Amino acid sequence: MTGAANPQGRGDPPPPGGDLVLAHNRVEVVHGVNLDMLGQRDPQQYGTMTLAELERHISDWAGELGLQTRFFQTNFEGELIEHLHGLRDMADALIINPGAWTHYAWAVRDALEIAELPAVEVHLSDVKARESWRRLSVIEDLCVGSVAGRGAEGYREALELLRDHLAGQ
Ligand code: DQA
Repeated sequence: MTGAANPQGRGDPPPPGGDLVLAHNRVEVVHGVNLDMLGQRDPQQYGTMTLAELERHISDWAGELGLQTRFFQTNFEGELIEHLHGLRDMADALIINPGAWTHYAWAVRDALEIAELPAVEVHLSDVKARESWRRLSVIEDLCVGSVAGRGAEGYREALELLRDHLAGQ
């Protein structure tokens, strides 16, 4: 391979996701309460994919963008909070779908603030177009972006947003 085809000129294949290799590329993908039931809960709102299938897609999309992913899901609010506390040195950015905690869990909001990571909030369903209690997100203003109502594809958009954010840092 020539230097022109590979600007790094070391004979390595070009990096995934274009020429830019991010030094900080670790994205933590966090799923909150009831998201382990994907594939069994209301397919009209949440699609038919299981969480394991969704995570495989997210991992593939991340690879295409030159990002690394790690995944975490819990149904216990305290466990999510402790996980967020531990992320400061473990991740460069965060994708978070807290499930119903989104709408009322102020302690999750505080923990997200403590984590001090660029975060994108994702919801599979269009939360603003459903019941009124789903319209409030207690984390929205802490996030660099928010994607809702795009199904699994929303996670790809979130990865793209974070990649652009990390590239601009
Ligand atoms: C959700 C939306 C929340 O309102 C709901 O409680 C969930 C999933 C979503 O991904 O659409 O559990 O976060």
